[in-house]
Amino acid sequence: MKKIALALPLLLLAGCAGTPNTEKQAALTDSARQTAAGLLQTLGGELKAAMTADGPAAAIGVCKERAPKIAAEAAQKTGFSIKRASPKNRNPKAVPDAWESEALASLEKRLAAGEKPETLDMSAVVDTPEGKLFRYAKALPTQAVCLNCHGDPDKLSPEVKAKLAIEYPNDKAVGYSAGMIRGVLSMKKAM
Ligand code: HEC
Repeated sequence: MKKIALALPLLLLAGCAGTPNTEKQAALTDSARQTAAGLLQTLGGELKAAMTADGPAAAIGVCKERAPKIAAEAAQKTGFSIKRASPKNRNPKAVPDAWESEALASLEKRLAAGEKPETLDMSAVVDTPEGKLFRYAKALPTQAVCLNCHGDPDKLSPEVKAKLAIEYPNDKAVGYSAGMIRGVLSMKKAM
């Protein structure tokens, strides 16, 4: 009984606010997912190759220089604006905006409720003074390989530690363990 009483107003709300956007939002969500998958595959491949060839300290350059380039290439191809964001950021520019913070909080809740971190994502259409904006956030789960640079600070290699200290004096992106959400891949596009 209680479930029905709760579900009905929610359905009505979704119906009123969402109907004209639903199909467009679904199509954009598909396209954002595909873009994210391609981009993360390229980045992950380059990261692993650099780590195997030269070790984690040298691979820092992949995260620093290649990640934004790969994102910019995907952005140019798809028209999405693409960035990475985390409240515990390494790059001081990767601060989440209000929507990204809310998205992250809700993805964290779903993770705690048992969803798999690899498939956690969400989208929304938000009203802005410039018009309707499609927004998408995909959780970036911490995998074993990430711990070389984002794990327990006492377990980082001295080379990685030294390089991070020079390049990122205000680094907050350590202390993660596998399975935690490291941040989000965030995309947006005017609709
Ligand atoms: C070789 C070291 C290294 C490894 C391995 C690594 N990262 Fe990073 N990560 C970095 C560096 C350096 C930055 C800052 C890049 C920049 O200047 O924008 C970064 C930034 C990020 C950011 C952007 C937000 C922020 O904190 O600035 C996310 C999200 C992120 N990494 C997730 C991951 C995930 C997930 C993995 C594993 C799949 C991973 N990283 C593996 C070094 C690494």
